[in-house]
Amino acid sequence: MILKGKSAIVTGAANGIGRAIAVGLAEEGAKVVCVDIKPCTETIRSIIDRGLSCYDYPTDISDYEKVKKMVSFAVNELQHIDILVNNAGIISRKNFTDLESDEWHKILSVNLHGTFYCCKEVVPKMIEQKSGKIINITSVAGVIGDITASPVYGTSKGAINTLTKSLARQLACFGINVNAVAPHAIETDMSRQWSKEKREEVVRSIPLGRLGQPEEVSHAVVFLASSHADYITGEVLNLNGGFLMH
Ligand SMILES: NC(=O)c1ccc[n+]([C@@H]2O[C@H](COP(=O)([O-])OP(=O)(O)OC[C@H]3O[C@@H](n4cnc5c(N)ncnc54)[C@H](O)[C@@H]3O)[C@@H](O)[C@H]2O)c1
Repeated sequence: MILKGKSAIVTGAANGIGRAIAVGLAEEGAKVVCVDIKPCTETIRSIIDRGLSCYDYPTDISDYEKVKKMVSFAVNELQHIDILVNNAGIISRKNFTDLESDEWHKILSVNLHGTFYCCKEVVPKMIEQKSGKIINITSVAGVIGDITASPVYGTSKGAINTLTKSLARQLACFGINVNAVAPHAIETDMSRQWSKEKREEVVRSIPLGRLGQPEEVSHAVVFLASSHADYITGEVLNLNGGFLMH
């Protein structure tokens, strides 16, 4: 168990990639606070069924006051926060010409501001501890622009990639590593919204010839959260079956 004794917060842990990350961290020994706008019932069941420890904390990460309460709950229960995974995210499929300002603000408020709020509350604790790992789940859309989503989605993810690098520079002196994982097409509710034709087109564009699985994102996050990644910071890890190589 490479994360034995560690404590983690995972946002968006009720579904898809977040659920796989919460389970993956718990399997490696971390105690996980599972945060989502809805209860993480299945995630909690999966973790408890394995005889492991976790907490369910339903809240909206786009509300700063609620994030403050969530982090203070986590600190009270766990005393230290070693790992923060900012995974919660929402998508828009609207073309730029159909995109209204309320949707623009909604996507940014969850994806970007929610990530900022969680970092803002957790970082002082990590500075006090002089250690910590922050992993932001972004997207290939934040690296090359949107292909299957609205421009606001890629904008939010690109901003988080930049935040990742800026925080990595500023927090390295406190022993805090900040990295991002940028998936492309992973088999979750988000990608299940595609039509059959769209899905086939996406699969054809991926050298490995298939969509990724949530557990494959989780493996990368577990690695970045562990001491095996102590010398990695400010990295945006492409996780895309070879779709984007650089
Ligand atoms: N699935 C993909 O192909 C793919 C590709 C690239 C990046 N991503 C990113 O991976 C992350 C997880 O995506 P997924 O595919 O598992 O999506 P998903 O929709 O299955 O899960 C997202 C979770 O975030 C939660 N959430 C939404 N708004 C929230 C809020 N305000 N507060 C708290 N929780 C909230 C949802 O309830 C949901 O459980 C997202 O950030 C997404 O942008 C996914």
